[in-house]
Amino acid sequence: MLRLVRHGLRWRRPYSSIAASDIDHFRTILPPHAILSTLSPSTLNPSELDPYNNDWMGKYRGRATTVLKPKTTQQVSDIVRWCASRDIPIVPQGGNTGLVGGSVPLRDELVISLANMNSVRSFDPVSGILVADAGCILQSLTDYVAPHNHIMPIDLGAKGSCHIGGNVATNAGGLRLLRYGSLHGSVLGLEVVLPDGTILDQLTTLRKDNTGYDLKQLFIGAEGTLGIITAVSILTPPSPQASNNVILALPHFDNVQPLYRAVKRQLSEILSAFEYIDRTAYDLAVKHGQGRALSDEEVDGAACFVLVETSGGRREHDEEKLTDLLSTLRSSPSLWALREGVTEAVSKEGKAYKYDISIPLASFKTVVDTTREHLRSKGLLGEHAVKHVMGYGHVGDGNLHLNIVAAAYTQEIQDALEPFVYELVGKSLVQTWHQKLNTYVRCAASYRGSVSAEHGIGAMKTHALHYSKDDVSIEWMKKIKALFDPKGIMNPGKVLE
Ligand code: FAD
Ligand code: MLT
Ligand code: ZN
Repeated sequence: MLRLVRHGLRWRRPYSSIAASDIDHFRTILPPHAILSTLSPSTLNPSELDPYNNDWMGKYRGRATTVLKPKTTQQVSDIVRWCASRDIPIVPQGGNTGLVGGSVPLRDELVISLANMNSVRSFDPVSGILVADAGCILQSLTDYVAPHNHIMPIDLGAKGSCHIGGNVATNAGGLRLLRYGSLHGSVLGLEVVLPDGTILDQLTTLRKDNTGYDLKQLFIGAEGTLGIITAVSILTPPSPQASNNVILALPHFDNVQPLYRAVKRQLSEILSAFEYIDRTAYDLAVKHGQGRALSDEEVDGAACFVLVETSGGRREHDEEKLTDLLSTLRSSPSLWALREGVTEAVSKEGKAYKYDISIPLASFKTVVDTTREHLRSKGLLGEHAVKHVMGYGHVGDGNLHLNIVAAAYTQEIQDALEPFVYELVGKSLVQTWHQKLNTYVRCAASYRGSVSAEHGIGAMKTHALHYSKDDVSIEWMKKIKALFDPKGIMNPGKVLE
C-alpha cells in the first residue's frame, strides 16, 4: 500500500506501510524470535512494542507495527535493501535513551533495533583499540576493557542502557569530554549499512589515515539519518592510576567562573571534569535519592555546586595538587551518582522540557533566570504548570542543560518556551528602536550559541536548526542527505525537516 504521508512540514514523500508480505520476506532473513510484529499472523500483544515506540522521557510516541532485531551486519544489509526497494521508512534504534525524540518512529516506520548485535570483535591491549558491534552497551564495554587497565573515552548517566552505536550516532558528549575530547577524535573507524543496503567498511584500526575524505565523520552525529552503524572501532585510553573528586558548594554563581580558571591553572593536566549543578537541580537529585546528600551545614547558603574530578598517574601527587587548591576535601564516588542522577530525578519529578545548549559560561545563570522570569510573566509557574526551572551541565564544555520541569507536557508551555529559548541561544536578528537614528535597526540579540550541544536534533529541534546553522550549511546538509538517501527512508523527520 503506497500512501502520501503528511506530518506538518516533515514528511512529503510517498512511503509504504509494512504489509504481511514484508514480514514473510523478513522471515527469510531473520529467525522468528528476531521479528516482533503485530501484523497478522501474529500472537504478539501490541503493548510488547511499547518499549520501542516510546522514548525515555515519555514525550514522543510512535506507532511502529514491526521491530526487527538482526544479529549480523549482513542481516541489517538485507533488511535495508528490501526496505529501499519497497520505500519502507526505517528508524535505527540503540538503547532508546536519546533525549530529542530521534530514536522512536514518528508514525509507523520499521524499527531496526541493534540490541542483538552485542559482541566485542577485537581488543588490542597494546594500542587500546576496541572494535565492537554497535549494539554493545556502554557499561559492558567499560567492564570489558577494565581488566586491561583501559577505560572508554565516553561516560554518561545512561551508560547502563545506551549502545556504543547510539553514542556515535548522537556524537554524545558526556562527563569525560573535557579530558578525552569528542567521538570525532576517538572513533577510528565505522562499519555502516547505507540506505540502499550497501555495506560501507571503514572499520579501520589505524590512528592515522589521510587517504582522501574521512567519510566516517559524516555518520558521527547523523542520528541515523545517513545509515545504520553496525560496528565501531574506538581508541580507549589507559585507566588513570588515581582519580579524585570533590564537590564544592558555592554561595554565588559568580564564583563559578573564577573557580574554573583557578582550577584549570592549578590542576592543569590532571583536571578531568568540571560539572555544574544549580541549587534547584541539587535539591531535586537529593529529593529523588540520587547519590549522597551533603550535610545541612555544608549546603547552607549554597546557590550552586561544582563537581571537580582529577585523573592522573600518581595518587599522592594528585591529592597534593587538589589539597593545595582546596581547603576542604570531600571525596566519594557518590558525588558522581548525585551529578549523574539529576536527569533521572528530573524525570521522576515531572515532565521535562530539555534544552541542551552551548553558551558562554558567564551566561549560564542568566539564561536560567531569564527563562524562569519569562514563564512567570506568562503566569505559568506553579505546581500545576511549571514546577522548576533549573540548570546543570558541563562547565568545561560550555554546555548548559536548561531543564523546565512541568506537571504535564502542554501546548501552552511549549509555546511559551519556543522560540523564546532558541532566540535567546542561537542567532536571532531582532528589530530594536534606535533612538539616535530614529528608526528600527536589526541587530543580533543572542549568544550565537548552539541549540544542541550534545543531544542532537532528533524530532525535537528540526525547526530550530537554523538558529545555529546558516542557510548554506543547511542546504549542504540536505544535499548530503539526498546523496546518501535519495528515497529519504532513513529516520525520516529527524535532523532535517
Ligand atoms: P538511541 O536513543 O536509541 O538513539 C539515538 C539516535 O541515534 C536516534 O536518532 C537513533 O536513530 C540513532 N541511532 C541509534 N543507534 C544507531 C545506530 N547503530 N546506527 C545509526 N543510528 C543509530 N547525552 C550526552 O551527550 N551526554 C550525556 O551526558 C548524556 N547523559 C544522559 C543521561 C541519561 C540518564 C539519559 C537518559 C540520556 C543521556 N544522554 C546524554 C542522551 C544520549 O544521546 C544517549 O544517552 C545516548 O548517546 C544515545 O544512545 P542510545 O543507544 O540510547 O541511542
Ligand atoms: C547530563 O549531562 O546529565 C545529560 O546530558 C543528560 C541531561 O541533560 O539530563
Ligand atoms: Zn550532558
